[in-house]
Amino acid sequence: MKTTIVLLGPPGAGKGTQGEKLTDEFGYVRLSTGDMLREAVRNGTELGKKAKEYMDAGALVPNDLIINLMKEKIAGINGGVLLDGFPRTVEQADALAEQMEVDLALNFDVADEELVSRLTQRRSCPNCNAVYHLVTKKPAKEGVCDKCGAALYQRDDDKEATVRNRLEVYRKNTMPLIDYYSKKGTLVTIEGSGDIDAIFEQVKKAIQ
Ligand code: AP5
Repeated sequence: MKTTIVLLGPPGAGKGTQGEKLTDEFGYVRLSTGDMLREAVRNGTELGKKAKEYMDAGALVPNDLIINLMKEKIAGINGGVLLDGFPRTVEQADALAEQMEVDLALNFDVADEELVSRLTQRRSCPNCNAVYHLVTKKPAKEGVCDKCGAALYQRDDDKEATVRNRLEVYRKNTMPLIDYYSKKGTLVTIEGSGDIDAIFEQVKKAIQ
């Protein structure tokens, strides 16, 4: 079974959704840079203060901040790990390669208009980071997280104009990683549209 997995794909492709399922079923530790940054913003830390304006605009947080953050987190890991939202630039991928070898880069492919529709209807849990959707993945009780009971919220960067900017940023900065991991022979691309559980079956095959 693969132990170091990078989850790749545009905003809204399902990295968090599938990552959560992998963690629940196989016990991987999921390190999501987006979740870490949002927590830092909520807690008003130095990192959060620096990251907020980039995140609100749908831009990438500078490489040095992210690389330092992840170096520390990865150093503490022992066992299977999922990297969700990192690396996001070739510079970040090179920094990661110096620290650990990636077994599998799992790339989720979804059309732009579906991504916009998914993200504008996403609701997130600020406490345990579970993700929901107003139509395709409703919580049992409206507005309440099934897992921990916290009130769900809409992320500031899930407004349509910001989502479209995030897609542009993805194309320019992160898409080159598809080629990067393909050349290393570790890339597997999965069609990310359709039933969440059916996609998870493909994911399970890829991690074997
Ligand atoms: P981050 O939080 O990483 O956002 P993202 O990559 O844009 O990814 P998302 O969390 O939006 O989407 P996802 O692929 O996880 O989809 P999800 O499963 O939730 O980053 C946010 C910001 O932080 C960045 O813009 C940047 O500023 C900064 N940042 C983070 N990492 C950085 C880095 N390394 N370098 C620099 N800056 C960084 O699914 C989306 C919705 O679709 C949900 O509602 C879900 O229920 C639904 N859904 C999922 N699968 C399906 C399906 N098959 N069918 C229908 N609906 C589905």
